[in-house]
Amino acid sequence: MRKWLLAAAAAAIFLAPGLGAAQAQIIIKFSHVVANDTPKGKGALKFKELAEKYTNGKVKVEVYPNSQLFKDKEEIEALQLGSVQILAPSTAKFAPLGVKEFEALDLPWLFKDEATYAKAMKGAVGQWLFKKLEAKGISGLAYWDNGFHMVSANRPLLHPADFQGLKIRISGSKIADQYFRNVGSIPQIMAFSEVYQALQTGVVDGCENTASNYLTQKFDEVQKHITMSYHAHLQYAVIVNTKFWNGLPGDIRTQLDKAMAEATDYTNSIAVKENEDALAAIKKAGKTTLHELTAAERVEWQKAMQPTYTWAKGRVGQEVLNLLAKELDVKMN
Ligand code: LMR
Repeated sequence: MRKWLLAAAAAAIFLAPGLGAAQAQIIIKFSHVVANDTPKGKGALKFKELAEKYTNGKVKVEVYPNSQLFKDKEEIEALQLGSVQILAPSTAKFAPLGVKEFEALDLPWLFKDEATYAKAMKGAVGQWLFKKLEAKGISGLAYWDNGFHMVSANRPLLHPADFQGLKIRISGSKIADQYFRNVGSIPQIMAFSEVYQALQTGVVDGCENTASNYLTQKFDEVQKHITMSYHAHLQYAVIVNTKFWNGLPGDIRTQLDKAMAEATDYTNSIAVKENEDALAAIKKAGKTTLHELTAAERVEWQKAMQPTYTWAKGRVGQEVLNLLAKELDVKMN
C-alpha cells in the first residue's frame, strides 16, 4: 500500500471527496486541439474507455478536446509543468520543445501513400524521433495518423503561381513554411483554434489541413476553393511527461500501455475512412469548390517545392533525412 501511495503521489493522484485511500484515483488529463469527431478525437476517447476499463476505474481519463484547456503552444508547456498528462500534437509542432527533427515528416510529397507512411513510422525513424524527446523529459507513446493535407484559399490553387502573395496559415513547421515560400506565398504560424476566424476575417487568405479538420472546424465555409493536393502528411505523436509516466505504479502502467496500443490501432485503422467521409460531407455541403490536380499540375507543384529538400538539411539535419531515405527507399538529394 505504501509503495502504491508513494508512486501515485509522485504521479498525479487525487482523492475524490469522501473516498478513502483505497479508492484513490489517478486522473489523467488528455488535452488536444481538434474536435471529438476526428481520428484524434475518437482515438483519445477510445484510450479513455480502454484505460478506465483495464485499470478497473483506478485511472480516470479526462479528455479535453477543441483547445478547451490549452492552445497549441501552451499545451506543450502544460505537459512539461504537469498540468496535463497526455497530448497528441501534430509532429509539426515540436520545434518549441527543441526537437526540430520531427519536421522532416512534413517534407512535401514525402510519403507516396498511406501505406508507405504507416510502414515508415513503424520503422527505425519513428523510434529515433521518440529518442530525441527523452532529453526533454517527454516520452513518445505512439504515432496517430490523420492523412494528407489539402490546401485552400478564396481562389483556385492549381498552379504554383496561384499562391503568389497569399497569406497561408501553417501550424508550426518551418518545412511547411519553406514549401509555401517556394510557391510565392507568405506563411504564418497560428494556433489551430484561431484559424476559422482568421480565415473569415481575412487575417490569412488560406490554410492547409486534412478533410476531417476542414469539416469539423468549418473551414470549408470560409474558403471558396479547396485543392485536394495531398502534398504533405499530418500525423501526431502521443506524448507524456516521462516523470509522470514512470512514476505510475507498474501494474497501472502496463494496463495503460495496453490501452494505448489498442487505441493506436483503432485510430490508425479509422483515419483514412474518417477523412474520406469528411471529404464526402464537404462535397455534399457544397459550400466550397473542390479541385483535383492533374498529373502535370502535380509535377509543377513538386518541382516548385523541391528546394525545400535542400533547405531541410540545415533545419532537421542529415541524420533524420538519411533514415527517411532508407526507410522509404528514395534518394534525398
Ligand atoms: C493544425 O494545427 O492544423 C493541426 O495540427 C491540428 C491537429 O491537431 O490536427
